[in-house]
Amino acid sequence: MMDVIGSRFTEYGFPLHEDNDVIPDDDTTLFVCSGMQKLKNRFANPDGRTYGSVQSCIRTNDLDLVGDGSHLTFFQMIGNFSFGTNDYGRSVRMWRLILEDLGIKDYIVHYHPTRPDHRALWDGCDLVEDPECTWTDGEIGGECCEIYVDGLEIGNLVNTLGHSTDVGFGLERLIQVLSGKKRVDDTELFDGSMDPVVRDHVRTLKVMRNNRVQPGNKGREYVCRRLLRRTLRLTPYIPGMDDWVRPELELLDKRLNTARKLWRKHQGKPHEWWWDTCGILPEELDLCKT
Ligand code: ALA
Repeated sequence: MMDVIGSRFTEYGFPLHEDNDVIPDDDTTLFVCSGMQKLKNRFANPDGRTYGSVQSCIRTNDLDLVGDGSHLTFFQMIGNFSFGTNDYGRSVRMWRLILEDLGIKDYIVHYHPTRPDHRALWDGCDLVEDPECTWTDGEIGGECCEIYVDGLEIGNLVNTLGHSTDVGFGLERLIQVLSGKKRVDDTELFDGSMDPVVRDHVRTLKVMRNNRVQPGNKGREYVCRRLLRRTLRLTPYIPGMDDWVRPELELLDKRLNTARKLWRKHQGKPHEWWWDTCGILPEELDLCKT
């Protein structure tokens, strides 16, 4: 799959860079969560250049959906970008060819009602007008076209700021579609011997560690601690992570002991108080009652 995509990217002037660094360059998010994030300056100050990437991403905002067969906390986004060149149509043409090369035929394109020009670019495809077809990271965005296969969104082509292009296709979802699997975790990318939620979380924890993020009490480290604790509630055994698991369980034990002593007197206190006072997460409060 990557050979097919890589050669079209080269042909269209978007040579691929692999970026496994999930730490953003700015403080708008704790982890890189889309292909465009490290390129925000270039959209704001367009230099006419182009770029292609396979960007590692971590998204923990859909944590409760992990395990549904399509959401992952760590994934890779295959993206191509242009800055100020007004060549959105060129990216659409490239992706139409890639989808054809890959044999993905039954896809549906959602486009924004104010953009008949976008509709025209997908002439001959199944099209749906959709007022939700806009994308922004909170600051930089535009109308987009979203590509669905059997209800699963596999890619998004954003006409950023009207003059630029920000495309992202989910690598794992493309593999899922190509292998005809109902669930992303049934693909060859995942070790079928583990519970899907545990496997997702362990994968992300390992990526965090490779990016030098440790469990801790603030920012990224807090997200890491929370994910680690969530995993430990599902399984006491995380292969290959003894160096994190043992200290974390010991620390949790100490914190729970303190919290249990305080429980009777302070049980009505808000979550924040329990975190500030003894480092207990909201989802751990039930453990303090015993
Ligand atoms: N930035 C767009 C997205 O993440 C491509 O969906």
